[in-house]
Amino acid sequence: MIKIALIVGSTRPQRFADVPARWIAHGAAARPDLRLETLDLRDYALPFFREPMPPLASNGVYTDPAAEAWRRKIGEFDGFIATVAEYNHGPTAVLKNALDSAFYEWNRKPIAFVGYGGAGGVRAIEQLRGVAVELQMAPVKAEVNIGMEPFLGILMQGKTLDDYEYLTKARETLFDQLAWWGDALKTARRQLAQAA
Ligand SMILES: Cc1cc2nc3c(=O)[nH]c(=O)nc-3n(C[C@H](O)[C@H](O)[C@H](O)COP(=O)(O)O)c2cc1C
Repeated sequence: MIKIALIVGSTRPQRFADVPARWIAHGAAARPDLRLETLDLRDYALPFFREPMPPLASNGVYTDPAAEAWRRKIGEFDGFIATVAEYNHGPTAVLKNALDSAFYEWNRKPIAFVGYGGAGGVRAIEQLRGVAVELQMAPVKAEVNIGMEPFLGILMQGKTLDDYEYLTKARETLFDQLAWWGDALKTARRQLAQAA
């Protein structure tokens, strides 16, 4: 059993993010191999990064109490899923800031992305993959892309994500890959700690 945090990556009023977040949480509840906790960035009130030193130079400790609480929370998990809104072909500033607000706690753990928007969030996700690698994470190949048709179907026609079988299949593949990497890296981290 691995512990996964689902990070809700946008915070504006009326956000769409709650739709994929609830759907991911629902799907994860049926999986015996994952235990998922939702981390809503609305609840963390992270300041925009204002540390005097980069995390590599401060041993990963943050002077800001909210950032410190966030990075300690992140340290509890074996892997992550982020909902990814696409703002001007990039990720939301709040999600990038949340990634900047921890360092060692992300290392050697997998992350998976659930994007939405005109092109399923792919442009934002591609940027996040590079960020994840710099944080020494393993971004899994599988992703969920909620494109224009389901996005509008949900917003304007009363549909739900469960009406789209290809999305449900993509969600399961994402869980499968995250569980595999999460398990493998948890074992590897433990071996590293024992050898130290
Ligand atoms: C500032 C801003 C920029 C946006 N830029 C894009 C974009 O580049 N590509 C896209 O597909 N959708 C874009 N959208 C539309 C979003 O995909 C849509 O509003 C989505 O609901 C945003 O996620 P949220 O509701 O969780 O905040 C943009 C929305 C906002 C607010």
